[in-house]
Amino acid sequence: MNVLSVFRPSAWRRLATDLKNQGLKRARPWIARQVFEGVYFDGLMTKHNVSAAVGLNPGRNSYRHYFAEQVARCARNADGVFVSVGVASGNVALRILENVKPDKDYWLIDSWDGRRSAADPAPKYSDDFANVQDRFARFPNVKFLRGVVPESLSRFTPDKIAFAHFNLGDPDSEIVALDILAPRLQKGGSILIDAYGRGVSTDAHRRGYEAVAARCGLTDFKGENGQMELRR
Ligand SMILES: C[S@@+](CC[C@H](N)C(=O)[O-])C[C@H]1O[C@@H](n2cnc3c(N)ncnc32)[C@H](O)[C@@H]1O
Repeated sequence: MNVLSVFRPSAWRRLATDLKNQGLKRARPWIARQVFEGVYFDGLMTKHNVSAAVGLNPGRNSYRHYFAEQVARCARNADGVFVSVGVASGNVALRILENVKPDKDYWLIDSWDGRRSAADPAPKYSDDFANVQDRFARFPNVKFLRGVVPESLSRFTPDKIAFAHFNLGDPDSEIVALDILAPRLQKGGSILIDAYGRGVSTDAHRRGYEAVAARCGLTDFKGENGQMELRR
């Protein structure tokens, strides 16, 4: 039986009204059904991703950022520091600092030269480091580590990590960085790999992340949206 047949037409009418309220003025029940089916079969039944499916939030950042915040919240009481590897202008780290309020050092690591990856220095992201420093000026627990990963990690001194967010868009460097940082993850802590199942990550990269996780005895949780959480 098609699982969708359990829904009555009134459900599509209600969803169409919701979509209209979200800004999709021409939403009709049959459009709502198509949107729902697309989202359902993508495994993404959250209001965040309904927004994504109708184009209000291209890239589904809102759900990915929400999930990063929740993972950080769960890791808040673990021993050790917070760290973001791949920060750009710092939207995710800022959200975590504002909402989770970790009472520990939060390290921000990035080249802040706009590069795509260690191997490809072509500019893609902002290189306005002064602006990033300004955005975080009100958080005395923030520490900046500027340089190309993984080499720059020789200057990352903490030996205990409660939460780490990896979002370089450079899986080759991330896997080496994970190998360096994962052994420092403490009990109750988590590492979030933002692009495990997305973007430039290949199956070979996914096997690389998984091999490090297995070696370090971490449990993985793979989200339908491409993020992977590693827990100790
Ligand atoms: C996808 S963005 C990060 C987005 C960020 N998490 C946010 O909250 O919006 C990736 C960042 O990592 C940087 N980057 C990519 N490869 C790098 C590397 N090997 N070493 C250091 N920074 C790198 C990019 O220049 C960019 O600033």
